[in-house]
Amino acid sequence: MAEWTADEMPRLDGKTVVVTGANSGLGFEGTREFAARGATVAMACRSVERAEAAAEEIRADAGGAVDGALDVRECDLASLDSVAAFAEGLEADYDAVDVLCNNAGVMAIPRSETEDGFETQFGVNHLGHFALTGRLFDLLDAAEGIGGDARVVTQSSGAHEQGEMDFADLNWERSYGKWKAYGRSKLANLLFAYELQRRLDATGGSKASDEDNGFGIRSVACHPGYTDTNLQLRTAEESGNPLMKVGMKAANAVLGQDPEIGVEPMLYAATADVDGGAYVEPGGLMNMRGHPTVGRSNDASYDREDARKLWEYSTEATGVEYPL
Ligand SMILES: NC(=O)c1ccc[n+]([C@@H]2O[C@H](COP(=O)([O-])OP(=O)(O)OC[C@H]3O[C@@H](n4cnc5c(N)ncnc54)[C@H](OP(=O)(O)O)[C@@H]3O)[C@@H](O)[C@H]2O)c1
Repeated sequence: MAEWTADEMPRLDGKTVVVTGANSGLGFEGTREFAARGATVAMACRSVERAEAAAEEIRADAGGAVDGALDVRECDLASLDSVAAFAEGLEADYDAVDVLCNNAGVMAIPRSETEDGFETQFGVNHLGHFALTGRLFDLLDAAEGIGGDARVVTQSSGAHEQGEMDFADLNWERSYGKWKAYGRSKLANLLFAYELQRRLDATGGSKASDEDNGFGIRSVACHPGYTDTNLQLRTAEESGNPLMKVGMKAANAVLGQDPEIGVEPMLYAATADVDGGAYVEPGGLMNMRGHPTVGRSNDASYDREDARKLWEYSTEATGVEYPL
């Protein structure tokens, strides 16, 4: 693939894009790019205050106004009630959602639990997005989408390779390793993204690829490589070790690519001609930097039995049923 950059994104006038974690890092950068092309971006953030400030920054950088619109909304992925309220609000105000970017995340934090009693990394990174996608399913299916299908883009990480599913202790009650839990949550992102596509395929194909007899939704996974964002700094803050913050900042400065590049896999997955079930990643050094390419995640992420078990667990844990 020739090097793809955000300059190749199409105009998105009239499209609605939902971005979780839109106030910081990759979500912020993605929001800026979608809005610059005319999309209305629903900024799904846990802090309305931080999201308003981010929206103001995007507008100011664009000379006072963006081409599209920025719609700040509260959505705390650590609360199933908040996710449900966010989805209800969107249903009341929009007819369709063309792109959902399941982007927000936390990394390697000490063990804590969400409002609903889930270990936070698994609860926010995976279960919150599972619930959100299910609740937005009808709005996604109603959309014209991009290239004929709405897109569900799920942001994983190279750290999925360190993840292991342990269905006897998904909530990390017996033992907890903060990096192991991050790896598992990112593996879960991929198991979910691929299982969603398989279930969509089983309904008879998408609007784009078939005779309009299936759901018009495509599920694409991506990861940003190593990108200099607040993710690493929050890990350091939560560790309580001031030296770690200094170390993370230095590592980010030396090794991290700019968010403008790191966001490209998500933008590519959302708007380029890409198949459902694809994995979009940076094409440069060790797939940790550079412009996007379609690659392959590790074997565990394609394990159909684990994906099925995770889907069943997630349905029961969140109470959100998909029509699939
Ligand atoms: N940066 C990298 O090198 C890298 C590498 C691989 C994968 N990723 C993935 O990229 C995604 C985005 O991370 P980033 O690098 O852009 O980090 P970031 O700058 O820290 O942004 C993370 C976003 O997630 C939001 N968030 C956290 N908990 C949330 C919750 N309970 N409900 C709703 N939103 C919540 C944060 O909100 P607040 O600002 O309010 O905390 C923030 O907006 C994550 O899924 C991460 O795993 C990043």
